[in-house]
Amino acid sequence: MERRSIPRSDKASHVLDLFWEKASFPDMTDLSAQSLDDLDLDEASRPKAPKVPAATDMHRRQGRQLTAIHRHYLMEMAQIGAVLARIEAGDAPPENLKRIVLSLDMSENFRAFGSLCGRECQVLKFHHDIEGADMFPRIQAAGGGMFREVVAKLLAEHEVVHELIIRLDRAADTLIENPSEANFGQAAATYRKLEEVVRSHFGYEETELVEAIGYYLGSI
Ligand SMILES: [Fe+2]
Ligand SMILES: [Fe+2]
Repeated sequence: MERRSIPRSDKASHVLDLFWEKASFPDMTDLSAQSLDDLDLDEASRPKAPKVPAATDMHRRQGRQLTAIHRHYLMEMAQIGAVLARIEAGDAPPENLKRIVLSLDMSENFRAFGSLCGRECQVLKFHHDIEGADMFPRIQAAGGGMFREVVAKLLAEHEVVHELIIRLDRAADTLIENPSEANFGQAAATYRKLEEVVRSHFGYEETELVEAIGYYLGSI
């Protein structure tokens, strides 16, 4: 099972890390010029994974470890989304968000949202780094390369997610430094896009890899 403890590296080196990654993988598509709206997973082009005929319910249960990990991240993101909605609601929050207590100082609330986003960027980057470095290569090599197409698509989706992580990380830093309404709006829009993209990517990945993980890897 994936370890959840994230080494909290110093912020500057973390951002450098992201730049290093871009520089080290020149074949990565440069998505930095695309607008937030245009960043897209191209869901219509998603290949289906071939069935693993020998996979049993036990294998599928093992494969659902990935779904459990994803659910956890989505729950964290939903909590951040609730904080965001509470800040946006201002003085008259809906009943279900009243338990989220805000500071009287709005700039403090903006900063708090910024630091939640910055932390989530690290968590998601960590998750995808493990998949890219360990799980994908193993699945790619499994079954005589029968999952190659699916893994290639998942890697292409990781590039979109990474681009959004880089943007949200920067927007969060800017917001913490200068907690203005405009910077809050920028971070909020980037956060919402990242959540939407991550939710879709997780669903595709966990569905297509459920048998491959259980049958070929046993655990992740
Ligand atoms: Fe992934
Ligand atoms: Fe994943």
